[in-house]
Order: sequence, then C-alpha cells, then structure tokens
Amino acid sequence: MNPHLSQLHPYPFEKLATLKQGITPPAGKPHIALSIGEPKHATPHFIQEALLQHLHGLTQYPTTKGLPELRQTIADWTCRRFGIPAGGVDAETQVLPVNGTREALFSLAQAVIDPAEKPVVIMPNPFYQIYEGAALLAGAEPYYLNTVEADGYLPDFDSVPEAIWQRCQLIFICSPGNPTGTVLSPADHQKLLALAEKYDFVIASDECYTELYDDEANPPQGLLQSAYQAGNTDFKRCVIFQSLSKRSNAPGLRSGFVAGDAEVLKQYFKYRTYHGCPMPVPTQHASIAAWNDEEHVKHNRQLYRDKFSAFIEILQDVCDISRPPASFYIWLKTPISDTEFAQKLFAQQNIMVLPGSYLSRDSGGINPGADHVRIALVAPIEECVEAAQRIKTFINSLS
Ligand SMILES: Cc1ncc(COP(=O)(O)O)c(C=O)c1O
Repeated sequence: MNPHLSQLHPYPFEKLATLKQGITPPAGKPHIALSIGEPKHATPHFIQEALLQHLHGLTQYPTTKGLPELRQTIADWTCRRFGIPAGGVDAETQVLPVNGTREALFSLAQAVIDPAEKPVVIMPNPFYQIYEGAALLAGAEPYYLNTVEADGYLPDFDSVPEAIWQRCQLIFICSPGNPTGTVLSPADHQKLLALAEKYDFVIASDECYTELYDDEANPPQGLLQSAYQAGNTDFKRCVIFQSLSKRSNAPGLRSGFVAGDAEVLKQYFKYRTYHGCPMPVPTQHASIAAWNDEEHVKHNRQLYRDKFSAFIEILQDVCDISRPPASFYIWLKTPISDTEFAQKLFAQQNIMVLPGSYLSRDSGGINPGADHVRIALVAPIEECVEAAQRIKTFINSLS
C-alpha cells in the first residue's frame, strides 16, 4: 500500500462521532446541526432546470477541458468579478472546470509537487482538511501557519522561516477563511506574490467563500485581482479555486473551476487527463446558467446576513462574538475547552458545533484551533435563532 496513507489524520467528522458516542441528548429538544459546512438554502430552480434540459448530454463522454462555452463563461465571470479587463483571463489556457474544489485542491498538489526535492507545502492552521491530505499523499511535508487571534486570525507570512520558504513548492491560502471567515487584504496578497516570485512556488488560493460576504459594497479581494493589479497579468504562480457549492447553494452539483497561470494549468490538465474526472455535460450547462446569474447570489448573501444578525444579537451579551467579513461561519472562543464545550452543548441542548482543535494541528507549541468552536449558520433562520437561544442558556449555565 501507499505508505503515505498511514500519515493521514482521521477526518474531523470521525472525531465528532466519537465525541458524541454514548450521549443521549434531551429528547424534547430537536437536533440542530451547526457542525457541517453544507449549504442548506434551496438550489435555485433555474439551475435545476438547466440540468434537466441537458440530460440528453449524458450520451456524450465529457472532455477534461470542458465545453468552450463553459470555459468562456468562467473566464468572463472571473474578469467581471475581480476587476480584470474583459479578455484578461484566457478561456483556452487559463481556465479548467473541476468537479467541486475539493477534488481540485487535492489533485493540483499531486500535479505540482516534486517529491524528490524535500518539498514543503504551507497551509493555514486551522485549515480545510484536504490541504494536508493533498500534501502528504504528494510526498510533501506540511508546514502549519497558525492563524491566531493576535493576528486577526490571519496568517503571518513573516513568521515563516527562510529555510521553509526555500523548500516550499506550494502554499494553500483560504480567503475568506474556513473556519475563521477572515479575508486576506490586497497587501497580504502582494507580500505573498513577492515571496512566490523570490522562492518560486505556486499559490493555491481557495476562494470558495468569496461570494458570501457581509458588505455588499466590499467584496473580498481575489488573488488573480491582486496579481493583475501588481502587473502580473499572466497570473504567474497563481491558481484560484472557485465553487458553485456555497455561492449557488449547489454542493451536490459538484461544480467549480480553477483559473490562473497557463503553465501550471497546462501540466495540471495533463494530470487530469489521466486522473479521468471530466465534468458531465449536463452539469456544465447548469454551471453556465449559475455563473451567468448574480441575483440569486445577492439573495443568498442576504439570507446569511439576516442569520448572522439574529444569531449575534442573541449571544452578544453572554460571549465575545464577532461577525466575520465573509463565509457562513462563526469562529467562537469557548470559556472551557472546545471539545468539552461541544460535547456538553450536545448533551444539554442537542446542538452540534465543531471543536476548533479538530481542524488544526499542534504547531509552534500551541494548537491554534483549541478553545474555539466553528458554528456553521447553514440551518434555516428559525433554527439558527433557536440554536442561539439554547447556546445562550448553555453558556449561562457554565458561569
Ligand atoms: C475551505 C473550503 N474549500 C473547499 C471546499 C470544497 O467545496 P466544493 O468541493 O463543494 O467546491 C470546502 C467545502 O466545505 C471548504 O470549506
């Protein structure tokens, strides 16, 4: 067997199942799951319709590159969204459709990493678990870049030792962040772009939450936008990951894309040809419809805004809770250990949240996810309000 398989950590939801074992929560309180980041708003009808209307496409083997119309739609969307002049992203060489960003984040690492060079893959800590698995299975050593409260829950690139940058072949960044909801600034991007040039590594920018932002007038900056503004109009060493799962409430569609550096994408395309995971034709048509519409995304943002307002209003008197600039997560500091908090909350209130330490590793003498829980505001607003009230009762019972 592949020896790297034994390096993989149990997935957070396996740990969560163990944490719940043997506990019977109060039967009178219906279960509320705030632990999983799965969007629950309805998938827009027009996306479903586009899928149905193209079911005849099931007779075709799809191609790895995808339909030219899909790639053009994605290239145009990327330019519109990130202030890049029309035509600034080439649909032929700088875009590839992927079956959700999860598989793409994983497979990009397999294509990029040269295991012969003692490679390091840098990732935020806590982090979306795929980054680590992708690094380990590619034969690289993960370097965990803590995102702590003192730094506004953002990675401090200056803290990375020179020897690590020298071995770095790939860095994952996640902005807006899961689980923190924080957003990298253009200055953060510029700093990283300069480092990527100096040490010659690829930046994989996971932007699957960029469309779920709080301030309608202030959408999160994307990496290609920063690269373009810095004069890196070929997006050298930059790859972004965008998804319809959160933006368009279509996690089951399995649709996203990667875009950026044509040289990286050329090799990645070669890898994907053998990996064999093209996007089904009906999914491509549904994706074209989704990327071409912004109204449903605006509506989606408003639903999250309303939930954040209602949730925070109830809890702000009993804990230090803040509204993230983007994402659908609250990253809450816990007055007791995160695992104990999650377990007792489940036992007493039948609510599940995710202990922060399940999303992070010990690094630099600390575990930056400890004493935090991730609360995903995915349930309908009535359930989120009910959950906030029960969490308030629970927190009050602790003092
Ligand atoms: C940070 C982050 N990246 C990527 C993904 C994968 O999303 P998808 O594969 O649905 O595009 C998720 C899903 O929860 C996520 O939280």
